[in-house]
Amino acid sequence: MIEILHTANELRAWSRAARAAGKAVGLIPTMGALHAGHASLIRAARSRTAAVAVSIFVNPTQFGPNEDYARYPRSFDADCALAESLDADVIFAPSVDEMYPAGAATFVEVEGLGNRLDGASRPGHFRGVATVVTKLFVAAEPDFAFFGQKDAAQVAVLRRMTADLHLATEIVVCPIVRESDGLALSSRNVYLSPEERQQALALGRAIGVVESLTGHGDRNAATLIEAAQSVLGAEPLVRIDYIACVDWSTLKPVETAPPGTLFAVAAWVGATRLIDNTIL
Ligand code: PAJ
Repeated sequence: MIEILHTANELRAWSRAARAAGKAVGLIPTMGALHAGHASLIRAARSRTAAVAVSIFVNPTQFGPNEDYARYPRSFDADCALAESLDADVIFAPSVDEMYPAGAATFVEVEGLGNRLDGASRPGHFRGVATVVTKLFVAAEPDFAFFGQKDAAQVAVLRRMTADLHLATEIVVCPIVRESDGLALSSRNVYLSPEERQQALALGRAIGVVESLTGHGDRNAATLIEAAQSVLGAEPLVRIDYIACVDWSTLKPVETAPPGTLFAVAAWVGATRLIDNTIL
């Protein structure tokens, strides 16, 4: 059975022992309900670092008061089995009290960036993400931490935070894993009815249309946004949250999209909020 650690001190002791044995430490932060997207991060860590920790923690501070914290999918036993089958070394599964001890009053806020894209639609979300990832980095002291491009704004926020705080962890970004029909894997896909799931394919289609436009040399942001809008707008159950063509490091809008530009969409499909993106 894979070893399960419950406290920050246990995680730090494990990490320091690995480092003392000459091993590079890789951390994959997750909220569990692991799927093939998470698995790709664990594989990437396994191929790059000799000691691999997967954290599983549904972080309450990154959920808004009317969001899905209570019903967020939890599948701890299956998650452990998957992590073990991918040869991860340990799982870090702290309690809420361990991560946020009584009276906890310290939060990490990435100004500006933290209020753009998903941060604009979900006030406080990136404050919660930055805070928990800081705590994880401080406890695990990882040499590398693996994140998905799926959450591209999260990557921008965490890169800024890591640089600003001089954290000695290198952020590795892994490509978006999709179902064979193009739907980006997400723990929230389980919320979708069959009809919603069908219409959710519009997100991946919108991204595909934008990729093909830029592939043909069209890099005008307004044109790209309009193209995505017409794909998403065609689905009655899809309500656009944002369509953004932004500099990936600042998350500020651009008018023309040089290589490296982030094109991202977020939309409600029924009661479920989904995101997708591409780096142009
Ligand atoms: P979670 O949504 O569980 O995602 C954990 C990691 O898996 C993130 O880096 C995310 O980008 C990546 N991921 C999710 N779906 C993916 C896909 N289809 N392809 C590739 N990677 C994918 O993101 C979080 O948790 C939390 O905000 C966290 C960073 C753990 C902080 O609580």
